[in-house]
Amino acid sequence: MIIHPCVDADAVAQFAATAVIEAAGAAIAARGVFHWALAGGTTPKRCYELLREADIDWPKVHIWFGDERCLPVGDAERNDLMADKALLNHVPIPPMQIHRMDAELGPEVAAKQYEALLAAVPVMDLILLGMGEDGHTASLFPGNPALEDQRLAVPVYNSPKPPLERVSMGYAVLNAARRCLIMVAGAGKADAISRIQNGTRLPVARVQGCEWLIDREAAGNRIV
Ligand code: 6PG
Repeated sequence: MIIHPCVDADAVAQFAATAVIEAAGAAIAARGVFHWALAGGTTPKRCYELLREADIDWPKVHIWFGDERCLPVGDAERNDLMADKALLNHVPIPPMQIHRMDAELGPEVAAKQYEALLAAVPVMDLILLGMGEDGHTASLFPGNPALEDQRLAVPVYNSPKPPLERVSMGYAVLNAARRCLIMVAGAGKADAISRIQNGTRLPVARVQGCEWLIDREAAGNRIV
């Protein structure tokens, strides 16, 4: 478990933003393209805002989503809308290179659609993930059948975090990334972090080879 201790949520955002710039530069230098999967929720918002002014060759960036909520396009609670407002509306990425999940069509249709897109990309250069208070990541929740689904993109039902229906990248994609950062901030995450450090394999802990960005509150003031 590679941990980068951060003093607070803003330090988590700063570290993640620097990592994005590094990963983008390396990928574009090596392969002429940067495939970057975004995290949903609220934690990554500040990181995305910090990247509005970043010196990244945006026309060579492809955006992917770790998960999406099955809500209408433009719904305030969609992960892609948060990303649009925080970053994607502010940088010159060609719209065709922003690969949204068609989650408004429902879990099965959207998962099939996204799996076909993902199959054409050998590997994500960088995946950003968050972690819920129950140790979920993307839309992979404890005890949910989606955890055992081997597909690249998986339908999710009965999510304990609204909405009930979602689409998520599966572990097959999450575990293949060249680099993966998990952003964890706030006291509400401390119990899950403690359980993981004591060996409980919560869903987020099944993503291998990640770097954990954990702030003091989430660390329970143990590691920073
Ligand atoms: C979602 C997210 C989810 C999120 C965690 C943490 O759709 O809700 O993809 O996996 O990353 O729940 O959310 P916060 O960053 O808001 O704590």
